[in-house]
Amino acid sequence: MTSLKIKKRIQELKEGFLRDAAEVRDSKAADALRIRYLGRSGLLADLFSLLGSLPTAEKKDAGRELNELKKQFQESVDALQARFRSAADAACSFDYTLPGDPMWIGHKHPLQIVMSEIQACFKNMGFSVAQGPEMETEYYNFEALNIPRGHPARDMQDTFFIDEEKEIVLRTHTSPVQVHVMENQQPPVRIIAPGRCYRNDTPDATHSPVFHQVEGLCVDEGVAFSDLKGVILAFARSMFGSDMKIRFRPSFFPFTEPSAEYDFSCLICRGKGCRVCGGSGWVEISGAGMVNPEVFKYVNYDAERYTGYAFGMGVERIAMLLYEVPDIRMFFENDIRFLKQF
Ligand code: PHE
Repeated sequence: MTSLKIKKRIQELKEGFLRDAAEVRDSKAADALRIRYLGRSGLLADLFSLLGSLPTAEKKDAGRELNELKKQFQESVDALQARFRSAADAACSFDYTLPGDPMWIGHKHPLQIVMSEIQACFKNMGFSVAQGPEMETEYYNFEALNIPRGHPARDMQDTFFIDEEKEIVLRTHTSPVQVHVMENQQPPVRIIAPGRCYRNDTPDATHSPVFHQVEGLCVDEGVAFSDLKGVILAFARSMFGSDMKIRFRPSFFPFTEPSAEYDFSCLICRGKGCRVCGGSGWVEISGAGMVNPEVFKYVNYDAERYTGYAFGMGVERIAMLLYEVPDIRMFFENDIRFLKQF
């Protein structure tokens, strides 16, 4: 092999590369170009293998030239590949033909839906809506409701204390709203008070440390226990349908006398017994009773002239019954698969 010959071959290789490179239109073709010229058994390697047959003096020059060529080819192929890669990336992120992300339309939480329905129902019966703070003093949460110091309801185990010295707690029920309302207005009173309550309970299928109640209070001349039963029955039937049954069981609350707990018949199993009603056919809703005259003393109501009834209502229990939800915790886990069903 003469140096003239090898120079010619180098020149041809250069021209061939430029021609081929001009034809490259995508990264696959750029890869092929790399293999053809720079591969282990490519055209450049062929020429390198001819170096050995050159006279020593010329070997050095030709070697340098080939190395230079190798560098140039490498750079050209790199540039081509970079160009096609960024074009491909850009095409991906600007593909206007792709469908857009689906839009989630927000809607009400199941507990809010139930609370709105409860409110609508009682508004129809002439009740208005009152509200009170979720952080209460022990006076409103206990004292003025005739729950004396040392009563088990005040126990650390049930109550979340915010500030023990200042006697500030998270309300354990909505009954303190009764006191706020009666402090601010004389009878006749007919209100409901929906809201969040807190108890230091261990969560399970029927207990959650945060839950909702709707309080009811009616005070006027001549209000009787039968009025309470009538209102609860009317509510139960408007919410669940005319075949709903209710029952009252004797109970005790310091702020009502006499007191009761009341249940709704279980519409899931129609009384046969199921998980939600624990096999009894009845679902416990909350407590109720005639307002204890002791409570009237705290709010300056004339207990000789007025009588009243009060009731609580467990919103989660009603929602569980209405939507056949077997576990109260599902309302608070915010699992979109659960929430989007309502
Ligand atoms: N506040 C009581 C509770 O949370 C329920 C109740 C309300 C009882 C009104 C009587 C009257 O258990």
